[in-house]
Amino acid sequence: MNKIRSLFEKILSPKESSSVSCADVFLVSFPKSGNTWMRFLLSNLLKDNENEKINFYNVHDFCPEWEKRKCENKRLTCPQIYKSHSSYDKNFQKVIYIVRDPRDVYISYYHFMKKTIPLSWDLAAFIEKYDGPYGTWSNHVLSWIGEKRPNVIVIKYEDLLLNTYNVLLKVLKFSGIQVNEDRIRKAIKQSSFESMSKIERDEGRKYGDGETVFVRKGRSGQWRDVFGDKELVAFHKKEDCTLIQMLSYDID
Ligand code: A3P
Repeated sequence: MNKIRSLFEKILSPKESSSVSCADVFLVSFPKSGNTWMRFLLSNLLKDNENEKINFYNVHDFCPEWEKRKCENKRLTCPQIYKSHSSYDKNFQKVIYIVRDPRDVYISYYHFMKKTIPLSWDLAAFIEKYDGPYGTWSNHVLSWIGEKRPNVIVIKYEDLLLNTYNVLLKVLKFSGIQVNEDRIRKAIKQSSFESMSKIERDEGRKYGDGETVFVRKGRSGQWRDVFGDKELVAFHKKEDCTLIQMLSYDID
């Protein structure tokens, strides 16, 4: 157990690269882990024109989904950032892997998918039955961080909420992006929950259905208020508790 814990500690605080580099950077996560927030932060930092407003349309140009890259109007940035929900892919050379408490992931995912799943499904049924294209949360996370990979840094959504500046600094150092403190503070403000929420309300989203709210709650620990016995049973049947503990999420 201690051996596994120490491996996870190493994975969560890997050696960071400080050199400037234009190698592609991949922003990878299981869905609903905070990927779009990080896309906004990095797009706001990498845009040439400081006055350009990042929204839910042009974010796809600055930080295209790897699997849809041929259909987007890719804007050249250094480094080029791609988003992906793929499980481990050896071709992704530099990876920022975002992880979030899976119980909050399920809540967020349920609200996001509500229009496309059977009407009769409540949250517990969604946890039990939904079989999306990315497999289970545990398998996805394990595929990326189950063994030490020097080209992967792990960022927790909860840490990003607690200390956006410091976590972003770590991401920038790893990605070889050099910007001044002023620019970082500005990008954080432009990508805040309130700001992104207003942009979504005012301008909509490229792949939105006009009804589902994307920037929804933006909080950690939602499951404590939302999960009852039914949800917990379904969750523990599906996901790996040891892995959740390894990532320092409370299990009780
Ligand atoms: P909730 O549904 O729990 O609110 P992804 O982009 O990976 O699909 O993740 C979506 C989740 O990130 C949603 O969680 C969304 O509200 C949250 N999110 C988006 N922008 C955010 C921001 N600026 N600050 C905090 N959370 C944000």
